[in-house]
Amino acid sequence: MSAPSLDAVPTLRIALLGAGTVGTEVARLLQDNADDFAARVGARLELVGVAVRDAARARDGIRADLITTDAAALLDDNIDLVIEVMGGIEPARSLILQALNNGSSVVTANKALLAADGATLFAAAEKNNVDLYYEASVAGAIPLLRPLRESLAGDKVRRVLGIVNGTTNYMLTKMDETGADYSEVLAEAQALGYAEADPTADVEGLDAAAKAAILASLAFHTRVTIDDVYVEGISKVTAADIKAAQDMGFVVKLLAVAELTPDELGVVVRVHPAMVPRSHPLASVRLSFNAVFVEADAAGAVMFYGRGAGGAPTASAVLGDVVAVARNKVRGHAGYGESDYADLEPRGISAANTRYAINLQVADQPGVLAAIAQVFASNNVSIQVVRQDGSGDEAFLLVRTHQATDAALSQTLAALREMPAVRQVVGVMRVEGEVGH
Ligand code: NAP
Ligand code: HSE
Repeated sequence: MSAPSLDAVPTLRIALLGAGTVGTEVARLLQDNADDFAARVGARLELVGVAVRDAARARDGIRADLITTDAAALLDDNIDLVIEVMGGIEPARSLILQALNNGSSVVTANKALLAADGATLFAAAEKNNVDLYYEASVAGAIPLLRPLRESLAGDKVRRVLGIVNGTTNYMLTKMDETGADYSEVLAEAQALGYAEADPTADVEGLDAAAKAAILASLAFHTRVTIDDVYVEGISKVTAADIKAAQDMGFVVKLLAVAELTPDELGVVVRVHPAMVPRSHPLASVRLSFNAVFVEADAAGAVMFYGRGAGGAPTASAVLGDVVAVARNKVRGHAGYGESDYADLEPRGISAANTRYAINLQVADQPGVLAAIAQVFASNNVSIQVVRQDGSGDEAFLLVRTHQATDAALSQTLAALREMPAVRQVVGVMRVEGEVGH
């Protein structure tokens, strides 16, 4: 198709909510690439206002006359497209609803809001026949949500397995590569600006849980919220856990897992540290990078890899959505909305079916191994590998199981804790990404 003259194209009015790490990069790229965007969209993208909290702060590259603290008034100013990169639940939710009800399309990076109350926002977008796009909300720059929503729409996804939090992946990589313990790598991640002064959302898995809910909703055509996600962070992972994993040929990763239950009527969505075999592609995802591994019936395994955070990488995903939404605006229609027709039942962690590594400190006496194996057998948990480390008072059994439900594993652990020969259950970790699972 020949390019229209850029003098002749119409203008779309854009409001930007937030000018922090992501927002300033969005504003910069909108300005730097203005002619390219106009040619790609068939309309000029004009930034007409930028809402912030503190109007007095200097904003690199953003004209002072665009800055306002009155976001609601900005949204009522005949806006075609709103970019929400302020974060948090309120006022972001009210402002997005105001924009959608005004007939503006919205692009957002707000995983917390989408995972808490996406249904309300998608319903408003559909009612008003406008777009609500959110590629940047999961795994930053990585094109992931559109491939899941569009490219894999002809397939049946069974499982999504991902490293979706760069801060914790950085920390676990450092623990793995240097032998340092959790508090040392947290201090280093904070000094480098990867982890916040209050690192809770990252290290306790909440950021990954929001992303897991969004991924599960798309992959399984079902509305999943953050309350449906089982969450365990990395704050209890010790240098000893990492070493034990290394000795068995594994690396510890914080994984977001969303999977169809065997009866195909439910989904289990979980975030927790897990042992991944060194041979699995996710094991080589180091430092702050993200990667998501999707298993679908016809496609087989597909992996997405790249930068999951940072101003410019996240702005790249935001602007991809802006171009897509703007093209729809120019043609006077909205893209295909959210699909939740499958309406699968979100099931709790007890329904999860995976493998486990259990580290037990035991009495080093004849018959102990047999008695322990009997506890696993009577709870229908099949043992794959057993190894003893140490002897006497310092005897440890490392047991790796075949697949079993979390419910069966919990019963096994409860029974093991009752055994006099089991001095303590030192650690338990799920094992993901092995052949056959
Ligand atoms: P940020 O640096 O904290 O910036 C937030 C911006 O929003 C600031 O400009 C702030 O104004 C403004 N803001 C906050 N509350 C406001 C309010 N009530 N009224 C008006 N303005 C308000 O955040 P960010 O890192 O850019 O993240 C933005 C969004 O992108 C979040 O949803 C985040 O989860 C998502 N995201 C971020 C990344 C990343 O790498 N940073 C990656 C993926 C997704 P002031 O500047 O005046 O304080
Ligand atoms: N804090 C997140 C991370 C970035 O460490 O990956 C934004 O989601």
